[in-house]
Amino acid sequence: MNRRARITIVGAGATGATAAHWMAQAQLGDIVLQDIVEGLPQGKALDLLQSGPIAGFSNRVVGANDFEATSGSDLLIVTAGVARKPGMSRDDLLQTNLNIVRSVTEELVRRSPDAILIVLTNPVDVMTYVAWKVSGWPRERVMGQSGILDSARFRAFIAQAVGVSMEDVTALVLGGHGDAMVPLVRYAYVGGIPIDRFLDRPSIDALVDRTRKGGGEIVSLLKTGSAFYAPGAALAQMADAILRDKKRVLPVAAVLAGEYGEDDVVMGVPVVLGAGGVERIIELELEPEEREAFARSVRSVREPIASVRHLL
Ligand code: APR
Repeated sequence: MNRRARITIVGAGATGATAAHWMAQAQLGDIVLQDIVEGLPQGKALDLLQSGPIAGFSNRVVGANDFEATSGSDLLIVTAGVARKPGMSRDDLLQTNLNIVRSVTEELVRRSPDAILIVLTNPVDVMTYVAWKVSGWPRERVMGQSGILDSARFRAFIAQAVGVSMEDVTALVLGGHGDAMVPLVRYAYVGGIPIDRFLDRPSIDALVDRTRKGGGEIVSLLKTGSAFYAPGAALAQMADAILRDKKRVLPVAAVLAGEYGEDDVVMGVPVVLGAGGVERIIELELEPEEREAFARSVRSVREPIASVRHLL
């Protein structure tokens, strides 16, 4: 790409603004922050822009309430939505965020028909499916963020438990973003060495459990919000892989069309991420227990998709 990439982030809340921060610092491209709240995206964009001379970046950062400013983007990121509040059922959340993601996607795809779209809004697997259907785009160009975050949590916990650098820990979490996610213990390594050389089974099981509940742990500490630093960093890593055509191998919520024996559903799986979006889905041979966990995770995503399919 000879010109600077154009990135649109919809939702200038905690995660959207943090993702913009990571991306500006990494000089990934010019950024448009869009939000329905008047002044919010403009104020955060201006503040972030003014950090440029200190942090050493020269990218443009603008805020907007309309969608015109998003035209011609290379990458679209949807973080707009509401978090679950006390008294709100999962179904209420699903319905509210579905309406937001549907209308935002319609606005975005008309103005940036050749872009790649990443969804963060929860429940992310279902919302990614919604965005894919509404966009009418090939599945390679629509995906969700969840696996990078879940794997990063697992990696951070392993590094702490073993007492080594987080950089040297690799791990893979498959499946939907929720209690039914599937952290794959046999693909977790410390400096290329399997983790069972460092930790016993009960310790590993405790880390797996903490990873599954990783989002909830932060919500219960923050009380008024959910995680945003690591989710924002995960979005920036995906943007870096796509805009710089890195062909990174990362877990991403992708539309399956026969892979892992599943079809017409979004699941977290390892993919090759580059300029074409999800360029390849990597299929792993799962052991019986892992296959069962994966199937359980697929069911937990298929159910809500079935309940909203008539709206798409
Ligand atoms: N168009 C644009 N922006 C919108 C819209 C809309 N239709 N509806 C809501 N927003 C904006 C809100 O005004 C808010 O600024 O989305 C932003 C969401 O930000 P936060 O409330 O701070 O939420 P955040 O923590 O960033 O999480 C965003 O990710 O983790 C999930 O469940 C979480 O769905 C939520 C999303």
